[in-house]
Amino acid sequence: MKPFNAKSYPALRENHEELKTYSLRRLFEEDTLRANHFSVELDGMYFDYSKNHLSAKTLKLLDDLANECGLPKAIQHLFSGEHVNNTENRPALHTSLRHRGEKLTDQQQAAIDTQKQMRRYVDRIHANEWLGYTNKPISTVVNIGIGGSDLGPRMVTQALSGSKIWAGEVLFVANIDGADISDTLRDLDPETTLFITASKSFTTAETLTNTLTAKQWLIQAGCKETELAHHFIAITTNIDAAKAIGVDEDNILPLWDWVGGRYSLWSAIGLPIAISTGMDNFEDLLAGANMMDEHYKNADLSENMPAIAAFCSFWYSQFWKSQSHAVLPYAQRLCRLPAYLQQLDMESLGKSITKEGETIDYHTGNIIWGTEGSNGQHSFHQLLHQGTHVIPADFILINQPMSPLTEQHMQLQACGISQSQALLQGKTLKDAMKELESLGLEQKEIERLAPHKIVAGNKPSNTIILDSLSPKNLGALLAFYEHKVHALSVLLDINPFDQWGVELGKQLAKPIAESLKQKKVDSKWDSSTRTLIEKLI
Ligand code: F6P
Repeated sequence: MKPFNAKSYPALRENHEELKTYSLRRLFEEDTLRANHFSVELDGMYFDYSKNHLSAKTLKLLDDLANECGLPKAIQHLFSGEHVNNTENRPALHTSLRHRGEKLTDQQQAAIDTQKQMRRYVDRIHANEWLGYTNKPISTVVNIGIGGSDLGPRMVTQALSGSKIWAGEVLFVANIDGADISDTLRDLDPETTLFITASKSFTTAETLTNTLTAKQWLIQAGCKETELAHHFIAITTNIDAAKAIGVDEDNILPLWDWVGGRYSLWSAIGLPIAISTGMDNFEDLLAGANMMDEHYKNADLSENMPAIAAFCSFWYSQFWKSQSHAVLPYAQRLCRLPAYLQQLDMESLGKSITKEGETIDYHTGNIIWGTEGSNGQHSFHQLLHQGTHVIPADFILINQPMSPLTEQHMQLQACGISQSQALLQGKTLKDAMKELESLGLEQKEIERLAPHKIVAGNKPSNTIILDSLSPKNLGALLAFYEHKVHALSVLLDINPFDQWGVELGKQLAKPIAESLKQKKVDSKWDSSTRTLIEKLI
């Protein structure tokens, strides 16, 4: 059902009119325990959504709307393996990858069997028993993949670098730009380098091309064709294609069509994470995600973290004209989280057709962006504070320090908290004038400068605090975002599990690559495309 057909929609519109006239400051003044009333806590993760333009009534209406849109049933269907991806006629069972329990479904069993296989690979590498073509142990692993076969494992490997247990190095290559792989390989030793070709489909041009480049690099270094198998692992649903390019059958880890690319870091696609941080930590990551799964499945919507986060996003995009959402992790090791969430959220919700195929005439997926704090404060935060857009932001803080420099950690936390406070309360004209007066400026100068110093405040944000950047807490955080996207997709009435828009570019790239190669332009193409090609040949 399109959301505006829900009975609660007109009441939400009225509620918006009412709340528009209320400042966030006033909401906090009227309810001194607002932070308690608008927050949820789970083991290791605290979610404060009090700095939002929401009243208890708003939440009740959003809850009603979610029920009318069938969110509780959609959650059940997600977990029970219904074909929720209706354009590809299959389930989206990434939650099975992290399930634990007695009675297992086929998918859950397959996931556990694969984890055992991953553990064997990791143990061999860690024990220096995985040998290259000259019988030297592997000391570098290069993951070749793109999109979901890169962003998740790359981001988590970095995020968990504090729990790294392997002395070797794990690197990532994604881009078709040859500079990516050649810069990566430049200082590596072919004798001790192992490649993982990570591709669900095993048809992705970037990944296959980079894999061939890696093969050539090994051969040029003296590795015989028959010895290449020592240097390649493949992770894919397309086992025949992996074998066809020469990957040994024993070095192939399976993937399944019921795991979407952007939901696949929990599968064997997470092998680089497990190599870097160890299989036990990888399993803790899964356990944290499983905890969030159970919460999403069982908690009442009014206390359901991912559902509430989705309610907030829906509320702002439908009623407050927001079009983007900032992700601001105050943790250097989470610097790749915004890029990871871009794929998760924008590839899932960037749609303009309902699940049943009707054209959408309302706002769907947001533009997700951000960077790690405190760096962003010296860049785009100016626009958050004094710009004209409504940009809800997620601040992510970590309680335990991530380095021995505890004093710096305190400063980092202070930066994060003060930014969310500044967005909430801003700076009034009166305060700005007082500040200028204290500098001893003349009245005329004070009046000239003061308007520039006003910060409107009243800007919404959520704050998430993780007890520590442990594998378990990180797993919970990522599953939180996955389920937020799912809940939002139900409210927006779209299928979050396909990505047909990406296909068009892939289709068009082939003839253009051919045209560049042949130095011939197709006269049927538009004049811009023709001219651009002519300039490049
Ligand atoms: O870019 C589209 C996409 O299909 C993503 O959804 C996916 O994660 C990525 O390409 C890589 O696909 P594969 O793992 O099949 O190589």
